[in-house]
Amino acid sequence: MRETSGDRSTRLDEMFHGIVPIKLNALEDYQMGRFERIVGRIVTANVKIEASRAVIPALIDVITGVGFFLVLVIGGREIIAGEKSVGEFMAFFTAMALTFQPLRRLGALTGVWQVAAASLERLYRLFDTEPTILTPAAPAPVPADTTIRVEDVALAFGDMPVLRGVSFTAEAGRTTALVGASGAGKSTLFSVLTRMVDPQQGRVTVGGQDIRGLETGALRALFSVVTQDALLFDETVRENILLGRQDVDPALLDRVLADAHVADFAPQLPQGLDSPAGPRGSNLSGGQRQRVAIARALLRDTTILLLDEATSALDAASEAVVQQALERLSAGRTTLVIAHRLATIRSADKIVVLDRGRVVDEGRHDELIARGGLYAELCRLQFSED
Ligand SMILES: Nc1ncnc2c1ncn2[C@@H]1O[C@H](COP(=O)(O)OP(=O)(O)OP(=O)(O)O)[C@@H](O)[C@H]1O
Ligand SMILES: [Mg+2]
Repeated sequence: MRETSGDRSTRLDEMFHGIVPIKLNALEDYQMGRFERIVGRIVTANVKIEASRAVIPALIDVITGVGFFLVLVIGGREIIAGEKSVGEFMAFFTAMALTFQPLRRLGALTGVWQVAAASLERLYRLFDTEPTILTPAAPAPVPADTTIRVEDVALAFGDMPVLRGVSFTAEAGRTTALVGASGAGKSTLFSVLTRMVDPQQGRVTVGGQDIRGLETGALRALFSVVTQDALLFDETVRENILLGRQDVDPALLDRVLADAHVADFAPQLPQGLDSPAGPRGSNLSGGQRQRVAIARALLRDTTILLLDEATSALDAASEAVVQQALERLSAGRTTLVIAHRLATIRSADKIVVLDRGRVVDEGRHDELIARGGLYAELCRLQFSED
């Protein structure tokens, strides 16, 4: 019953958040059917629980009923035979009747205990889960140099290898671009850098220090990340940009808002910057969400910048200006960029080409084009389209 209740919550969450695709694909009946099946399972489980919970007190009732009957018969015989007085019998009978209720309650308790035991088992499973991303007992000091070295990193999700021995260096203060087909493992590499997941093989160093030797909070404080799916919280746009920081200089905030082009759309929102972003930022458009995410990164002002398709949801004109702002920001910072639109990474100091979890080439734009490998092919496809 606990398991199916868990499934029910997951399903509801999925349905509420997926209400648009459900309607667009006319899945109302289908989803309703799935939900009804879950509710059916919950009902069945509940009936079973209640039945087994009721069975023990019922059994006790039957047994005691038979017992009382036998005591009456045997006691009655003894009184008739003159072996016992009525008083003696009544004393015994009353004492016996008094044990009846407690016994019954004890029986009901076993049912309660079994339900609790099922919940406990699930809780213990959670408590016993060992975190896989651990901060070492004696964390190393955060390195000043921010050269990122990825050394022979291999990672699989379940049986599926996603990264198969990736090695490259992102020089401090330079821009390194990651290029490759969809599913090549680019975003996964960012997760490895920020220790959202640890690789099964190989290591990543920042300034020569293995990132697993750093305190995870300190490590993540080195990065500003604009992820592919700019996720906003159900707070105001301003709070989404400040993310809990209270000491932000208003002039700096204004500059960030202008650079990320949040200032272009914020005044048109009903309450300006103080308008609610809605659950998961649903009150904003995709491009607006992305600009909020960029503003966050600009404000964080860290030495390493990770940009995963940071401008993909913007129109060509906004993309060009936000791109300029990002280029200004990345000057002097260690920057890693993922972009499908290859025009945006042409000027990168180094381009690393990934193919199905492997680095197949690296170099500057001109070198890669001259070599005529995968990158040249990707460029040819894209620019002939344009
Ligand atoms: N949490 C996960 N569990 C299982 N598989 C995953 C997970 N995250 C990613 N994958 C798989 O890893 C592979 C690489 O995913 P990744 O997101 O790194 O691709 P990508 O190169 O960023 O692609 P895109 O350009 O489309 O963003 C994909 O095949 C994906 O199915
Ligand atoms: Mg990705």
